[in-house]
Amino acid sequence: MIDLHSHFLFDVDDGARTIEDTIEMLHTAAADGVTRMVATPHQRHPAGYHVEPALARERLAEVEAATARENIRIDLSLAAEIHFSEDIPEGIEDGTLLPYSEDGRYFLFELPVTTIPGNIKEVIFSIQMAGHFPVLAHPERNFEVVANPKIVLELRDRGVLMQLTAQSILGKFGRKTEKVCRKLLKWGVVDIIASDAHNPVRRPPGLAEAVKAAAKIVGPERATAMVTETPARILAGGVVN
Ligand SMILES: [Fe+2]
Repeated sequence: MIDLHSHFLFDVDDGARTIEDTIEMLHTAAADGVTRMVATPHQRHPAGYHVEPALARERLAEVEAATARENIRIDLSLAAEIHFSEDIPEGIEDGTLLPYSEDGRYFLFELPVTTIPGNIKEVIFSIQMAGHFPVLAHPERNFEVVANPKIVLELRDRGVLMQLTAQSILGKFGRKTEKVCRKLLKWGVVDIIASDAHNPVRRPPGLAEAVKAAAKIVGPERATAMVTETPARILAGGVVN
């Protein structure tokens, strides 16, 4: 399985604090069946988290050396969880923001927790016109989506790929979020399941249990594709749909 969203790089945001945390997280992921894990530290987060690409690459190199030492069999790569704004394409092009795919087409973004920007459709359109494919992190955890899940349908119709958090599917972000997940899965608008792991214990890595739960709604084949084929295509820069 491929995990497209995690904060395992230590001491860059609100994720892993130490390299020991990182190693524990990667052990857990590998034991769960994750073979490739993408570091997605926050960029332009309103709380002030913003990792510079040079530091993120330095940390990734340290972590890769540690996984070799510890004999953890997992491939690592680097992207970011970018806070939503209209100038994301410029940031990707000038190298300050970290996209998923080498061609820079796919990138992961997050919305504010409580609201959805009023101009989101226009901004998404202009980002797509600039040649980029946005992937939305945890729509199910946005308060406006919880109140009206149909917003997700509109965005996905416009080409935004939807990534659910594994723990949301399992009810660990509350009943309402879990219900939204179930609805989105039933509607067939979920593209990816990712861990959004932040630490070894409270928000750990792991996808298998959530894939099993999703499979009860969408069937095993589609649930599996959410952590295998689709993430692989995104990383390769191919066309997903
Ligand atoms: Fe995240």
